[in-house]
Amino acid sequence: MLAQRVAVSLHQTIKFLPRRLILHKNTGAVGAVGHRHSSTMKQNTPQSSDSAVTSSILEAINKLVQDQRLVSDKYDITEKIINFKHPKELEEILPLAIQKDGLNDLQLEELGRLIVKYSVKTCHPHFYNQLYHGVDEYGLAGSWLSDALNTNSHTFEVAPAFIVIEQAIVNYVTKLFGFKQGDGIFSPGGSLSNMYGMMLARQKKFPDIKSTGMFGQKPLVAFTSEESHYSIKKGANWLGLGMDNVIKVETDAGGNMKPEALEAAILEAKAQNKEPFFVNATAGSTVTGAYDDLDALHKICKKNQVWLHVDACWGGAAILSKKRRHLMNGSEHMDSIAWNPHKMVGAPLQTSIFVTSHKGLLNETNSANATYLFQQDKFYDVSYDTGDKSVQCGRKVDAFKFWFMLKARGENYMEEMVDQTFDMADHLHALVLSKDNFRLVPAYENRRCTNVGFWYIPPRLMGKVEDETWWEEVGQVAPKIKEAMILDGSLMIGYQPLPFKNYRNFFRMVVHGVPRPEPDHMAFLLDQIELFGKKL
Ligand SMILES: Cc1ncc(COP(=O)(O)O)c(C=O)c1O
Repeated sequence: MLAQRVAVSLHQTIKFLPRRLILHKNTGAVGAVGHRHSSTMKQNTPQSSDSAVTSSILEAINKLVQDQRLVSDKYDITEKIINFKHPKELEEILPLAIQKDGLNDLQLEELGRLIVKYSVKTCHPHFYNQLYHGVDEYGLAGSWLSDALNTNSHTFEVAPAFIVIEQAIVNYVTKLFGFKQGDGIFSPGGSLSNMYGMMLARQKKFPDIKSTGMFGQKPLVAFTSEESHYSIKKGANWLGLGMDNVIKVETDAGGNMKPEALEAAILEAKAQNKEPFFVNATAGSTVTGAYDDLDALHKICKKNQVWLHVDACWGGAAILSKKRRHLMNGSEHMDSIAWNPHKMVGAPLQTSIFVTSHKGLLNETNSANATYLFQQDKFYDVSYDTGDKSVQCGRKVDAFKFWFMLKARGENYMEEMVDQTFDMADHLHALVLSKDNFRLVPAYENRRCTNVGFWYIPPRLMGKVEDETWWEEVGQVAPKIKEAMILDGSLMIGYQPLPFKNYRNFFRMVVHGVPRPEPDHMAFLLDQIELFGKKL
């Protein structure tokens, strides 16, 4: 109701302003036309700062973020995560229409407050809905700074500091994963990073396709586990391979690709006169958190001369921890790796890095040599004009916020964060096993990442025969509890079935590092599910 009143009052304020008065967009001042620097200006700004050199709207938005404690580890845990409204209700509440005259800063501040009210607080410790979550405050600061500098990561002349920073962080990450040499690029998300892998694989095996296209070519075939992320199929569509040419390889009980099944699938494709060119391994799968055996897959790919990419978007963060980095064993042999620090370790969305052990291949694959941008006769070292490695022209500066965050936090902090995240997942796993009315999904018995999958069994189903009908009913529990929790605003967690393992809907918990997970958060999760579930 309050929000509706605010929205209505915003509409009314604008509607009833005298015509000869204008609202100064930049200052929030109301003044007569042509008297932009009237004395009313400062009184009407939200801040008393000198509007000639400071931006009152930026101060106001910063204040809003601080007041509402939207920064991870600072958010008030007693507040709601979400104030849920159905789309039609939200369309009524929010003043969506764009008007002839702009709003002033005070009105914009109110508008910001309204948006915060109806947005999901991913910084809340009980937000587990997705693989991303709250943002590290230093990462956010870096993001704001690079946004203010509003430039493109394509040429040294427009982004000198950012270009050398991107290269430094690419070198850092290639070393982390054990490459002796390599290259890399920040891309707008993991799906795109996986597509970079496919493109480089194609370029390596069939360099002519870049200019001639795929006409008359044997069908190129990609392989990925049945547990892998759907971006591989999307990539095959975008690259013109066709989704049917993505072969889903069988997995073991824990969702890890079976190496022998991969080898059989490659041989079968060859027998069908198709061209195997790309294998996608997964390190931390979206649902079960499976880590494919990179060493075993490497041997098969080497033998068959197929590119091996690893989608480490979710689980790649293990590399930051001495205790957990064995999960990435074999990463040094990969042709390419995609990692999203915006997932487990809380870098701002989007922070996705693609690295390859083939120096020069990114450029060879993507370059188009635009003469208006990448002139070779510039006065500085043009090897720093790295933008032609990208499929994009303009590219947002994503490297800086991650670099800034790492500079602020340091390696020890990052390691400790990853350790605690994995430890808390182990703690939750043990809690689930300790309770009669929760049941671990078998795929998670040997789980290694921070995904924990479980069913909640309501009292009326406890002790009953576990036949098809019983499972049917158990499968309806998670969506109902989720709905109740969202409407209550107290907790957000994902659920899904796993049809290829014949599992009905279960809760998929994902533990991430920002805000820092604690034992109390894990206990609250199960208590809350029980609270809403016992009535079902
Ligand atoms: C394993 C894995 N790979 C890739 C992606 C895609 O990443 P993005 O959402 O940044 O495109 C996801 C998304 O959740 C994922 O879980």
